[in-house]
Amino acid sequence: MSHYHQLLNQLEELNLTNMKGNLPAYLDEVVKSEKTLVDSLFELTQLELRFRKNETQKRILKRAMFPYHKRLHDFDFDFQPKIKKAEIKDLMTLRFLDTHDNILFIGNSGVGKTHLAVSIGMECIDKGLSCLFITSTELVNRLSRAHKRGTSETMLKKYAGYSVLIIDEVGYLPFSKEGSNLLFQLINMRYERKSTIITTNIPLSQWAEIFGNKKLTNALLDRLVHHSKIIQITGPSYRMKKYSETKPS
Ligand SMILES: Nc1ncnc2c1ncn2[C@@H]1O[C@H](COP(=O)(O)OP(=O)(O)OP(=O)(O)O)[C@@H](O)[C@H]1O
Ligand SMILES: [Mg+2]
Repeated sequence: MSHYHQLLNQLEELNLTNMKGNLPAYLDEVVKSEKTLVDSLFELTQLELRFRKNETQKRILKRAMFPYHKRLHDFDFDFQPKIKKAEIKDLMTLRFLDTHDNILFIGNSGVGKTHLAVSIGMECIDKGLSCLFITSTELVNRLSRAHKRGTSETMLKKYAGYSVLIIDEVGYLPFSKEGSNLLFQLINMRYERKSTIITTNIPLSQWAEIFGNKKLTNALLDRLVHHSKIIQITGPSYRMKKYSETKPS
């Protein structure tokens, strides 16, 4: 086997697959004296590093479990004029994390609650912070299953550890007594330590119906709202946008 082919194998063995792929093109340039060996090696390693960083970022994004990857620049503020753009832009600076503030997005279906929560979550990932997106139903199911196995404490600690936890769709389904208690414990553990982002279509005044316990709901809301930014979104559903555009006036 020629040294060239052995080199390809060695690059593979060293896990430098991107460099291996780019090598032939660079060798062509070196042969044509269009690039020096040093410049080629510099660029090849630079491309490899960029590729690895990208792959790591993709893995981290996948682990955050966002339902979709959308940014603030994908959000049409003109469609939802009641949202204060400056307020959302301020949230994107992530300064709310310094004071462990929570964010509550409240509004009807399709107004952009999850989109905005995801945008903030993705910004957190960009900045190297740990973030997890989970629906409240899935979170409570996981905690309840762990509770039955006697491992809820470990699981609570895991969810309490994320710099940002996005709990989506609070109130779409009511919680069991055990589920409500576990969720309360988690919010209590995160209180004044980490930021939690909540999306809900139920006004806070009606939360007792979801949790089935007035005292617990008050204590939970007290902790959530104490240091928080509440973004109330009133407006049309973006999901109905196409329908309203084609509707005869
Ligand atoms: N103002 C907007 N500009 C662009 N896309 C939007 C806007 N509002 C919502 N969308 C898009 O519409 C869809 C629904 O929005 P989103 O998921 O944020 O709804 P939601 O408020 O969380 O509703 P639900 O309570 O039903 O979960 C998503 O694909 C989202 O990206
Ligand atoms: Mg949603």
